[in-house]
Amino acid sequence: MKTELFKITDIEQQQELLRQAGACIRQGGLVVFPTETVYGLGANGLDETACRRIFEAKGRPSDNPLILTVADRQGAEQISDRISPLAEKLMARFWPGPLTLVLPRRSCVPDVATGGLDTVAVRCPDHDICRAFLQYAQVPVAGPSANLSTRPSPTTAAEALHDMDGRVQMIIDGGACHIGVESTIVECTAADEVTILRPGGITPEMLAEVAAKVVLDTHLVSGKGVPKAPGMKYRHYAPEAPVQAFVGSEQAVIEAVQTAYTEAKAAGKTVGFLLSREVATQVGAPHTFIWGHHGDAAALANKLYTGLLFFDKERVDLILAEGVQAVGLGLAVMNRLKKAAGGHVQAV
Ligand code: TXA
Ligand code: MG
Repeated sequence: MKTELFKITDIEQQQELLRQAGACIRQGGLVVFPTETVYGLGANGLDETACRRIFEAKGRPSDNPLILTVADRQGAEQISDRISPLAEKLMARFWPGPLTLVLPRRSCVPDVATGGLDTVAVRCPDHDICRAFLQYAQVPVAGPSANLSTRPSPTTAAEALHDMDGRVQMIIDGGACHIGVESTIVECTAADEVTILRPGGITPEMLAEVAAKVVLDTHLVSGKGVPKAPGMKYRHYAPEAPVQAFVGSEQAVIEAVQTAYTEAKAAGKTVGFLLSREVATQVGAPHTFIWGHHGDAAALANKLYTGLLFFDKERVDLILAEGVQAVGLGLAVMNRLKKAAGGHVQAV
């Protein structure tokens, strides 16, 4: 299959391209599209065969359900007929935006999209190009991240092309995603209680402005039990080289990274560094990717996947990374970094 990539800079002027992308979805094709979090791999979410193509293109396990992407609140009603008052409030406050709601599903949503669950995950992205595309598609668009299964999610069209070339009909290039980590997935577990299944762009503190009680899925807290979001149990976000991450004060991270570097060099390894500017300046090693200022969770969110993918090109044997405290947006960032590092995150 030949993959066509087109760059959208003006939605009005280029509406014909977006119309074509929408038609491609209705005809059962696959279209990669930008969102404010990461790039999505789109197919008609109400078409069983089209949804199956997503699993094939990604190499995704069939029990890992898809998020359905909609242009607005009405889109959610197309796929769920039981939207609780709390879910209503969350949509009103955070849509369009990086919040995905798990809702009871309507029967029009195929089993393959929900992995056989009786719920469906719904999201309305805060991205003009994406929403114009969804409007032209006229159907809810199933949209997991546009990476091959287990790999870091793409936050640029070039990264999406790398994994999806030859596997999709079209890629809509809308520039770099401005958040950089995926949406927060929540379920309303009581009239005034929200459970976070996957941390993301909407923080627990923000959710607490709407819900009296905000809890984390026990799997996120203890790492034990079965996660409520099936995808959370799989290996994910992993670059080719193993990752070791450190979190702490500037000085503590500098010392920990230098010690780990000395050991790795002694073992003959080429090392890549994914660090804040402050720490990188002190470590002063080659193969360094700087993600921003020490402690800046938004900057790390924005650059994390690009940084991990950068080292695939550099062909290093080990990546030494610097994290941030797991609060606010840092909760989502550290959830991803911990996965990428196979759990090798050390507080120093
Ligand atoms: O920001 C995002 O959410 C991005 C962009 C592209 O929209 N999408 C995304 O999709 O991250 P994906 O497929 O990579 O992750 C979806 C997660 C998986 O962990 C999946 O198991 C979970 O959502 N999920 C989907 N449907 C669910 C459901 N009904 N109940 C619980 N978890 C569900
Ligand atoms: Mg994903």
